[in-house]
Amino acid sequence: MDIQCTDKELMLLKKISAAAKELGAEAYLIGGFVRDKIIGRPTKDADIVCIGDGIALAHLVAEKFRPKPSVSFFKTFGTAQIKVLDGFEVEFVGARKESYDFDSRKPTVAEGTVEDDQNRRDFTINTLAISLNEANYGQLIDPFGGLEDIAKKIIQTPLAPLQTFSDDPLRMMRAIRFATQLGFTISPITFRAITDNAKRIKIVSQERITDELNKILLAPKPSIGLDLLSKSGLMQLIFPQIMALHGAEYVDGMGHKDNFYHTLQVVDNIAPHTQDLWLRWAALLHDIAKPATKRFEEGHGFTFHGHEVVGARMVPKIFNQLKLPQNEKMKFVQKIVELHLRPISLTKENITDSAIRRLLFDAGDDIDALMMLCNADITSKNKQKVQRYLQNFELVRQRLKEVEEKDHIRNWQPPITGDIIMTTFNLTPSRPVGILKDSIRNAILDGIIPNDYEAAFNFMLKEAQAIQLFPVSPLQE
Ligand code: CTP
Repeated sequence: MDIQCTDKELMLLKKISAAAKELGAEAYLIGGFVRDKIIGRPTKDADIVCIGDGIALAHLVAEKFRPKPSVSFFKTFGTAQIKVLDGFEVEFVGARKESYDFDSRKPTVAEGTVEDDQNRRDFTINTLAISLNEANYGQLIDPFGGLEDIAKKIIQTPLAPLQTFSDDPLRMMRAIRFATQLGFTISPITFRAITDNAKRIKIVSQERITDELNKILLAPKPSIGLDLLSKSGLMQLIFPQIMALHGAEYVDGMGHKDNFYHTLQVVDNIAPHTQDLWLRWAALLHDIAKPATKRFEEGHGFTFHGHEVVGARMVPKIFNQLKLPQNEKMKFVQKIVELHLRPISLTKENITDSAIRRLLFDAGDDIDALMMLCNADITSKNKQKVQRYLQNFELVRQRLKEVEEKDHIRNWQPPITGDIIMTTFNLTPSRPVGILKDSIRNAILDGIIPNDYEAAFNFMLKEAQAIQLFPVSPLQE
């Protein structure tokens, strides 16, 4: 075998080999599994290409396992899938030749040889095949120099790149995604073809585009892909709001940093600390409203007042446009975008208990995620400034810990609810209920009254009097 496999994987490959022989067919291990084994990445699935009936091969392989796995298959596509070895997926497909229509990603398919099948693949590093046939079992078949490209860390197409990308424009996103995940370089000719074909991305479904974008964001250094998307022209087409962050401007010697590259740096900074896709999205979107809120103030310079609030409001539209989920994940991203300046602003003032309590109350369980983003947001080139920020930031972290241990504000709810307010004053849901609720909450967070029912109730009565509200039944002394 030209690659290192575990005993279980070898057992699986032997079974496939035996089944192919029984069927009088040929079988080859191909694509991502071979690539990842050579690179030394973990593998979670394997593709088998069969010269013959792929579905019949899948059934015969399934027969060789106890308990027998079920085979899911699609007759029209000639593909079949089984899950073995604790969830390891194996996909079988008949070797094919493909030709594409200009307006669609759906190819016309005909049976082919293993070379035809390698030809139709996206990148040389994905064309590598390993024979599972008796005559040359374990031998690597590498007509396009995929092995060399892995060694040189290069992504290029096996055929003319214009052809490969025109056939299936999703591959432009895949090229950039692989470059990001693997830390490879896209060959200049291949990259040029992406730039020239970028507009064809419009025939690809939004879900697939976003899937690639998510994979880029989850890579160890997402800036590689985000920058390539920008330079290739794809970003302008799939996510123009991010492109608006580009550019540093100077007026009267006063300038602001390039928010695009700042954002990329923030996403990279947070990457080693979290694999949470949504926190990475929050990092990508934290300054998204800077272009919309940018002003130049005479004698003062550029400001982006309120960009965190406007940014949070932009999140649902962006999630909708990118077909990202409109659920609590989106709300989390909104919340982090909205609060992203709060811990930093605390470092500039006296860090009072009440400011810390408010931050804990507003962030709730997401306080750690928020702090992680704020830390990643410190990207100044001035080393001393960064050092000072980080030290202040550590102080905020320390104070958050102390106040949380003392007051348990994180998931706290004020002792007086809206219902209690409505019953006491015989109110229906209305503005005064909100006003009273807010003032009780603020009084506790500011340390004006203690955090207990009686103090809060008495405070409520006083506040109510001020707005001419009186309890419906006399209060018992
Ligand atoms: N492929 C292709 N063009 C595509 C998608 C896939 O040529 N648009 C080929 C590639 O040879 C790829 C194989 O199909 O290796 C399997 O595709 P997929 O499972 O999507 O990718 P992997 O390479 O396995 O990588 P990953 O699982 O990380 O997506």
